[in-house]
Amino acid sequence: MRLSDRISALKPTAVNSILAEVNRLRAEGREIFPLMRGEPDLPTPAHVVAAAESALRRGRTGYPDNRGETGFRRAVAEKLRRDNGLEYDPATEILATTGATFGIWSALTAILNPGEVVLVPDPVYDAYLSPIRLAGGTPRLVPSSIEGGRFRLSAQTLESAWSPACRALLLNTPWNPAGTVLTADEIREIAAFVIERDLVLISDEIYEAITYQGCRHVSPVAVEPALRGRTVLVNSLSKTYSMTGWRVGYCAAPADIVSAMFLVLQQSSRGPATFIQDAAAEALAGSQECVAAMATEYTARRTKVIEGLRGIPGCQVIEPEGGFFAMLDCRGLALPSDEIRRRLLHEFGVVVVHGAAYGPSGEGTIRVSFASGGAALDRGLARLREGLLVIGSPAIMAQS
Ligand SMILES: Cc1ncc(COP(=O)(O)O)c(C=O)c1O
Repeated sequence: MRLSDRISALKPTAVNSILAEVNRLRAEGREIFPLMRGEPDLPTPAHVVAAAESALRRGRTGYPDNRGETGFRRAVAEKLRRDNGLEYDPATEILATTGATFGIWSALTAILNPGEVVLVPDPVYDAYLSPIRLAGGTPRLVPSSIEGGRFRLSAQTLESAWSPACRALLLNTPWNPAGTVLTADEIREIAAFVIERDLVLISDEIYEAITYQGCRHVSPVAVEPALRGRTVLVNSLSKTYSMTGWRVGYCAAPADIVSAMFLVLQQSSRGPATFIQDAAAEALAGSQECVAAMATEYTARRTKVIEGLRGIPGCQVIEPEGGFFAMLDCRGLALPSDEIRRRLLHEFGVVVVHGAAYGPSGEGTIRVSFASGGAALDRGLARLREGLLVIGSPAIMAQS
């Protein structure tokens, strides 16, 4: 079958490629220790499930308002006011989306012309790249570096990556996979660049509720109100409320951008199901105790990861400030990260993602997920440690 040229620009995400490898090993009966996926193992809070059940019983099963059900859009506007200090008009400035994935895709489709460049900080959540290409754009990675135990993005590197073809910056804070939560000062610097270079900012804030040790997410538009007219804020309920499979999210942006994104949406997903939006409104507007409880659980898991991987020669945990991934700096092992990943998988059954999958700035690191906890995390960490000690021993012996 002759397929469209467009398809050749699309690549499976690193997680999907690795999953195919894992499934082959599973089929051979191998024991697998997964530390890869960004899927919380915590259940969706009971009151949210109850809201969906109740909506279904009330017959809320017809086509949704494609822009988003009024109740959901109001709940989003109220949430943005309460948690982010932002004012958006639910009638014109908010769009309900099928997860953040659709929000990002519709924003890119609404703003990009063929050949325009989207700047993406490296290491980059790799699922950003294909939608940029599908929308006719070209992703350009902006390098970061590990300094003082965290991935940092500097205004100078942004400036060096800029060219007149640049149309947008796709920012993700808290940053998957790097684990960095951008500070207000860092955001101010980035905002100055975005404004100076007349870019659109797509701000993916999906991990906002999962931050550690005094780091707090601040929304770029709240830090620099001058960004408001050029920013698409993207968020979803996937991570904050453990609702990955519900496929519901939202965007907030000036009315003209939302109208353009709404056009894209009408030709494709037509929005999340009506009863799902009712449940999502309950999640946003109801008690937020479940969010605090999840954050406490992730904090305990993070500590487990940091302690479980401490003291491995040649490796250093980059302590995450947010999200549920820890990057392990394995540069001391002097091996390409994909080789470390493959050996961990094939010799020890441990599934992680190699940092190079997220761009050159991720090389030398591996991403360890603690989205799942309990015994699976304990066993995975023990096995990872064992694997790294074996894989790293030649490099360590050569150094001593
Ligand atoms: C940074 C980032 N953005 C977006 C998504 C996708 O979110 P959603 O499930 O809301 O489509 C993910 C999921 O892993 C992510 O890590």
